[in-house]
Amino acid sequence: MRHIMVMNPKGGCGKSTIATNIAAYYADAGKRVSLADYDPQGSSLAWLERRPGDRPHIAGLDAFNEGLRHLPRNSDIVVLDAPARSHGKELTNLIRHAGTIIVPVMPSPIDMQAVTKFVDEIKQVGKVERHQVRIALVANRVKENTMIFEELDEFLEEQKVPYVAVLREAQNYIRAYTRGLGIFELPEYLAWPDLETWDPLIEWLKSRRSRPRNTDFY
Ligand SMILES: Nc1ncnc2c1ncn2[C@@H]1O[C@H](COP(=O)(O)OP(=O)(O)O)[C@@H](O)[C@H]1O
Ligand SMILES: [Mg+2]
Repeated sequence: MRHIMVMNPKGGCGKSTIATNIAAYYADAGKRVSLADYDPQGSSLAWLERRPGDRPHIAGLDAFNEGLRHLPRNSDIVVLDAPARSHGKELTNLIRHAGTIIVPVMPSPIDMQAVTKFVDEIKQVGKVERHQVRIALVANRVKENTMIFEELDEFLEEQKVPYVAVLREAQNYIRAYTRGLGIFELPEYLAWPDLETWDPLIEWLKSRRSRPRNTDFY
């Protein structure tokens, strides 16, 4: 059972958007997927409620209130949507449930500054130091050919954790969210520019680079 957490203490950077899309991707690939929403805002669970019955099933967990108590034991993939503002002990506790962590970052000076601190904090968690969890950064809501994207790109390249994908600011994400779908489930003629941007993230998730060391657990 693999645990993939989407995490960043900043709200609005795309955690729920990325978590729901990863869940839909694996469900479409025939995996048994659970989606655990740790955020009291419940955006991932609200998405799941909109999911059409004829799409591959994803089990929803109200992890904010109930943790992973109801996690189906036969899940292949557990996608965890982390809450904003997790620090200190709460952060360490959350990371206990992660083998792989994806950190979305928006092209904004405030977000870039916040993520530097977050990466520093997260790297000090014992489990991360022991490489029992793998972390990657993903640029999200990017408008290409803007100065601020160039800055974000350079900034992410310099971080001490891998920077694996650049996702555009696009209506497709809104369109998919409101219909309980992933962008992989939208008509290809609409979604193709964004599908391409997911390739490197999916590749990273499939590779050993995103697999934690010394754990049978994940
Ligand atoms: N790549 C994107 N393109 C367009 N809108 C996006 C994108 N990523 C996120 N959004 C929108 O930004 C808002 C915040 O995203 P959300 O996933 O809810 O962030 P978080 O879970 O980190 O608070 C939502 O309205 C969402 O639809
Ligand atoms: Mg959210």
